[in-house]
Amino acid sequence: MAVTIKSKHEIQLMREAGNILATVHEELAKIIEPGISSYELDRHAFEMIKKFGCEPSFLNYEGYPASLCVSINDEVVHGIPSKKRKLHDGDIVSLDCGVIFKGYHSDAARTYAVGNISDRAKELIDVTKNSFFEGIKYAKAGNHLYDISKAIQKYVEERGFTVVRELVGHGIGTHMHEEPQIPNFKQIGRGIKLKPGMTLAIEPMINAGEKDVWFLDDDWTVVTRDGEYSAHYENTVLITEGEPELLSVKTGTTVEQEMNRR
Ligand code: MF3
Ligand code: CO
Repeated sequence: MAVTIKSKHEIQLMREAGNILATVHEELAKIIEPGISSYELDRHAFEMIKKFGCEPSFLNYEGYPASLCVSINDEVVHGIPSKKRKLHDGDIVSLDCGVIFKGYHSDAARTYAVGNISDRAKELIDVTKNSFFEGIKYAKAGNHLYDISKAIQKYVEERGFTVVRELVGHGIGTHMHEEPQIPNFKQIGRGIKLKPGMTLAIEPMINAGEKDVWFLDDDWTVVTRDGEYSAHYENTVLITEGEPELLSVKTGTTVEQEMNRR
């Protein structure tokens, strides 16, 4: 399947999906504290998604058993919620969630501090989020896809952090994963030319130590090889002739507002 251009109507449905997903994320952020289990976070996500009339896109996706990915500390992505896994003071936690509204997907991830975290962990979270906003400066009709990839990598490496290579962002729409793949690091060539109406999930996964990762035997969890912390930040984005529109935020939130939101 080629890269698709979404119609006005499709974009509106993705906005509505994203508005709901943003609410889910905001509510989850409020209950993050030492002692809560990743299972409880997943239950909250599931119940909110259903209440808002959406379907959780992750649940049963290629056998994934939950509505939320909860990746703690050295876990990069795809941490599986568990009653036994509780958050502790000093942890960082990445929450990745996806919803389907009237057949259209939205996908977003955020990384949070649990209680008091180290300065280095704070910097990791900030650099990861900021690298997304650095990348989307290039997410504009007429530019090329890998302009985004290159900008993310440059921003991250200049600050002494590393970019995960094994996982990438993706097109999104009637499916969670559509073409194109969106690496967060430099490619050979320039990639496809961006056009208005393309919808992309851009999602830097950034490590505090070395870039290398392991895939655990649970078939899902990705961890850093060196055990150092990793962070994740993702939004669903609409390409326009000008500034991109964030589709996984409360409707009407500008790029600048979301970038400066704490
Ligand atoms: N947001 C992720 C992605 O972009 C997570 C999907 S994995 C799942 O690929 F299995 F949990 F769905
Ligand atoms: Co994604």
